[in-house]
Amino acid sequence: MISDKLPTIWYGGDYNPEQWQDPRIWEEDIRMFKLAGINIVTLNVFSWALNQLDEKTYRFDDLEEHIDRLYQQGIYTCLATSTAAHPAWMASKYPDVLRVDFQGRKRAFGGRHNSCPNSPTYRHFAEQMADQLGKRFKGNPAVLIWHVSNEYGGYCYCENCANAFRKWLKEKYLCLEALNKAWNTTFWGHTFYEWDEIVVPNALSEEGEGNVSAFQGISLDYRIFQSESLLACYQLEHDALKKHTPHLPITTNLMGTYPELDYFKWGKAMDIVSWDSYPGIHTPTSLIAMTHDLMRGLKQGQPFMLMEQTPSQQNWQPYNSLKRPGVMRLWSYQAIAHGADTVMFFQLRRSIGACEKFHGAVIEHVGHEHTRVFKEVVKLGSELAELSDKIIDSRVQAKVAIVYDWENRWAIDLSSGPTVSLDYVEEVHKYYKAFYDHNIPVDMVSVNDHLLDYDLVIAPVLYMVKKGYAKKLTEFVQQGGTFITTFFSGIVNEHDLVTLGGYPGELKELLGIWVEEIDAMDPAHSNQVIIKETGNVLKEQYDCHLLFDLIHTEGAEVLAEYGSDFYQGTPVVTSHQVGKGKAIYIGTSAEQGFINDFMKLQSQNLGISSLLPKVEGVEVMARSKDEKTFLFILNHNSYDVMIEIEQGYLDIHTGEEQKESLNIPANGVSILEEIKSELFTNRSR
Ligand code: GLA
Ligand code: ZN
Repeated sequence: MISDKLPTIWYGGDYNPEQWQDPRIWEEDIRMFKLAGINIVTLNVFSWALNQLDEKTYRFDDLEEHIDRLYQQGIYTCLATSTAAHPAWMASKYPDVLRVDFQGRKRAFGGRHNSCPNSPTYRHFAEQMADQLGKRFKGNPAVLIWHVSNEYGGYCYCENCANAFRKWLKEKYLCLEALNKAWNTTFWGHTFYEWDEIVVPNALSEEGEGNVSAFQGISLDYRIFQSESLLACYQLEHDALKKHTPHLPITTNLMGTYPELDYFKWGKAMDIVSWDSYPGIHTPTSLIAMTHDLMRGLKQGQPFMLMEQTPSQQNWQPYNSLKRPGVMRLWSYQAIAHGADTVMFFQLRRSIGACEKFHGAVIEHVGHEHTRVFKEVVKLGSELAELSDKIIDSRVQAKVAIVYDWENRWAIDLSSGPTVSLDYVEEVHKYYKAFYDHNIPVDMVSVNDHLLDYDLVIAPVLYMVKKGYAKKLTEFVQQGGTFITTFFSGIVNEHDLVTLGGYPGELKELLGIWVEEIDAMDPAHSNQVIIKETGNVLKEQYDCHLLFDLIHTEGAEVLAEYGSDFYQGTPVVTSHQVGKGKAIYIGTSAEQGFINDFMKLQSQNLGISSLLPKVEGVEVMARSKDEKTFLFILNHNSYDVMIEIEQGYLDIHTGEEQKESLNIPANGVSILEEIKSELFTNRSR
């Protein structure tokens, strides 16, 4: 659990009492929080300017009063460090805190998440702020966790960043010769003879319009560098806080598949991962599920915090649809099912001004509890209070792992060719969805994670194969695992330099194939995957799109061939026996139907079973602890469904035993406790 002071599922969210200078409202807030079962609030997220009047003057009395008032009523605090938006005085006195954007324009004061991560001023004052807060609140019993800054993100291209980048490069490459080689600078004669000749890659230099880079080497390094620069800022505050409160966990709120930061590195620096989930009305529920699993994967399956979600709607989407009745509850349980131990909202009371006045909140502008949204919040709050004890500290267990890698994604995005339409997250999601659709739990893992606990590992579009990874995959297969990868894999090393000797480079031997050419077609065009032996799972043919590898087998067996074009009849899906396992290659972007059927077949072959048989629109996940398994059955349909189950479950909401079939209403959820668990007894992780 996150804190033994509050050993339940945390329920609450971002609360900004400073926006109302009215004690009657504060009292009213607390009354309503208690009605809703709210047990924690996040305070102080954007209060830097209120907390610090100038270089030397700090003022925390108001903040302390809020913390204490809430605590007296049994409500704890997740205390933010307030450094997510710098004060106006700081920007005007110390312009180095202001970022330079991708176009090369120096920013003026305004907005948020706006400080240059390599500004000495920002680093100094942010660290000081964490130090001051730590000193002031270290003995405060209400504070259970630190929330550093808020949604770190964005890149800066200022002179401080350029200098820090050159220093970072010197440490990484030691000499310019190595750097020139890694970036392949002899191409277009970009050879560097002095470190100072290196400028940041932006619209004015290597990245032009910003879609691709002329030199992936420098652009890739700049992404790694900026992600690490922001992480260093987090680390500074983290260390300052730890000095005062070594016992308190520290987090910062992440954003799922957010493209700019390598969250696997961030996860290592955080005591607990937290993230903000803002799906739109049409976001596939499988994508929400995948993102939760990715966030869980950052700390190898430890529970995470759902730090923010809207109770009803956002303000920043083109159409800010309401969450339909029941959906807030449904998606909250979905987060829990995937490993969250908190359900928290942005925001608890709706602002009266500025851009978030139309963002949904637990307490609406009307100010009372007689609203649909508030009633739903109350209902969920009372349910969580009931079932927390059972669920807290349970874990998701999976035999399937999907590899996700931010650097790989950057390299794909930055590369010019073979297509503009390749979307890494979308391709990963297609593979994830196949398991989601079969109710098979998945872990999302990094290239640094251990693989041997899994039976099946899938690395969609593993364009970049880093040093040692091919060996790790080979060991996994030799010991009996099944590894699946796809088109556009094994092409480059960690500098985005092509591995010579034929695609898929370092994976060639493991896969037992050679890819001679890669054809690309606009997404409207299709070829076909013709299955050689259909068995009883696969159909005879499926469509495929976008990229088409022209494959020679070198030891692998052909499972399917192309149906048309000049490479009709040549291999498109292959399987290679290596040691006790096999390595499978899918040489094209196949339609979802193929991926679903093919993953089903592989799961069957490996004895990986579904938690429950599939019912359209119904998601099933499981968490378990102490030999006990809880099945979460989530009906994402806008109609009721009947689910067939075996006997032997207790419904943990009603306490009643469930028999054979179970009705779940539209947008409803059932959580069943297995009376006797055999599902997971032989699972190791
Ligand atoms: C982010 C931020 C919050 C708020 C919400 C609105 O998640 O962290 O401060 O702006 O978006 O959806
Ligand atoms: Zn900068």
